[in-house]
Formats: sequence, C-alpha cells, structure tokens
Amino acid sequence: MTDSPRNVLITGASSGLGRALALWFARRGAKVWAAARRTELLDTLAADPSGRPGTIVPLALDVSDIPAVRRVLPDVDRQAEGGLDVVIANAGVGGEANPRKDTWERVERMIQVNVTGAAATLATLAPRMAERGRGHLVGISSLAGWIVTPKMGVYAATKMFLEVYCDGLHLDLRSAGVQVTCINPGFVKSEMTAKNRFKMPFLLEADDAADRMGRAILRGEKQFAYPWPMVLATRAARWVPDAVVARVMGKSGVKPA
Ligand SMILES: NC(=O)c1ccc[n+]([C@@H]2O[C@H](COP(=O)([O-])OP(=O)(O)OC[C@H]3O[C@@H](n4cnc5c(N)ncnc54)[C@H](OP(=O)(O)O)[C@@H]3O)[C@@H](O)[C@H]2O)c1
Repeated sequence: MTDSPRNVLITGASSGLGRALALWFARRGAKVWAAARRTELLDTLAADPSGRPGTIVPLALDVSDIPAVRRVLPDVDRQAEGGLDVVIANAGVGGEANPRKDTWERVERMIQVNVTGAAATLATLAPRMAERGRGHLVGISSLAGWIVTPKMGVYAATKMFLEVYCDGLHLDLRSAGVQVTCINPGFVKSEMTAKNRFKMPFLLEADDAADRMGRAILRGEKQFAYPWPMVLATRAARWVPDAVVARVMGKSGVKPA
C-alpha cells in the first residue's frame, strides 16, 4: 500500500479520466502537475474548488513532442519536493481506423500519442525513480487491448503495447523500489467515448472510474482491470468463436469495415 502521495504528475489531465484523477489526488492533499495541450481547460481544473486541499499545477505539454517530454518532465521531477511520487501516463487518443480507407494519419497519431508519448513519459522518469529507490509509474491501458473489435485494431494495439511495456517495467524496477501499475478501464464517459455510436455496456462516470483507479494505485496493484462484468465479458469473448462475437457486437451496432 502506497502512502497518500505528495507529488503526482498526470498526462492528459484536461478532460475525462485524467481530469477526474487529478481532482481525486488533489482532494487527498497531493500537489498534482496536470499536463495536456488545452491549457485553458487545465486552468479551470486548477481553479476547481472540489480539488482542495491539494494544489493543481497546469502544465502545457504535448506528449507526442518527445524533446519537450524529455525536457519538461525531469524539470518537474526536480521542482517536486523529494521528487515525483506517482506518474500517470494517461494521455491518449482513440477512435476508429477503417483499413479500407487511407487512415495512415490516424494510425500514426494513435501511435505517436498512445505508444511513443506514453513510453516517453514513463521511460523519462523511471531512471530518476530507480535512483532514489522509490516512486510509482502508472500506465492507462484499456480493456480494448484484450479484444479487437471492428476498426479498433490500431487503438487496441497501442493499448496492448502499454500493458506489456508496464509488465516489463514492473519486472525490472521492482528490485529498485519502484512500483508499476497498469490500468485497464472498460467504458467510461469522456470526450473519447462521447463519439461512440454503439451501446457501451457498463458505462461508468469519470468520477467513479477515478475513485476505483486511485484506490488501486494506492493499493499498489500490478494490474487493475474494471468494471468486473466487463472484464469477465472481455475474457470470455476470447474463447467464443469469432462468428458469435461478431453477432453479439452486430446487435450493439458494431460492424466490420
Ligand atoms: N473513456 C474510456 O472509456 C476509456 C477506456 C479505456 C481506456 N481509456 C484511456 O484513458 C485515457 C484517457 O481517455 P479519456 O477517455 O479520458 O479521453 P479524453 O476525455 O478524450 O481525454 C484524453 C486526454 O488526453 C489528452 N491528450 C490527447 N493527445 C495529447 C497529446 N498529444 N499530448 C498531451 N495530451 C494529450 C487530452 O488533452 P488535450 O487535448 O488538452 O491535449 C485529454 O486530456 C486514454 O489513454 C484512453 O485510451 C479510456
């Protein structure tokens, strides 16, 4: 169990899960560096009274700008008294990529943010945490990484990358005193899921999701997938013939390209 952290950095904190997590940690007294590109949203987050008694510091950062990640994150780690305790690689872009059309720009964008940006965030701070013998790295993956649905192969692949990368970090950093948690959410209300045109089973509010994730981080879980009915359904779908999965998804409005 991790003590309530003093210094937390969250990428993709201007909306959805990242914003709710920033408020969750701030309410527990943490100083939270909230990173994203839309600084006007970060300013409203920093001013949100529900985040007190902690402090939220807006941080303009595009995680796909790797030189910026490599420059800014060590600066924040130095500014944070005693260094960053928890770093959450949450920034992500979703959406469909229909392979019958030229979707390269969309494919490239998802890889730049979800893979390169997330890995750069964690890889930049891992050696600093290992050197001081403490710290906690968190990757926000997805249950989408466990089951490929129509037109979501690229997104699923990026999220599976993060899960496996976190597994490796856990293996290599445990003896250095650095904890690693991979989180696989099901459907949560956010700007990302607002674009979905199909029925999303077991859809959660962002605050509920943040509470579940924040507690799992404090418990120091290696992997936390939620909500459990969606976890069971996703696991079961792996053992069911493709035609049956396709029929069930088709009824929810999810059809192949
Ligand atoms: N909602 C779900 O059902 C769900 C389920 C499983 C996993 N997830 C994962 O949870 C994470 C958060 O998603 P969400 O649902 O909360 O979506 P969201 O509301 O769209 O939030 C995405 C966040 O990522 C940030 N972002 C996007 N590109 C960025 C970039 N280049 N640099 C820095 N920040 C960037 C956005 O901020 P700016 O645009 O201001 O930069 C925003 O704050 C994602 O990794 C997503 O894959 C979500």
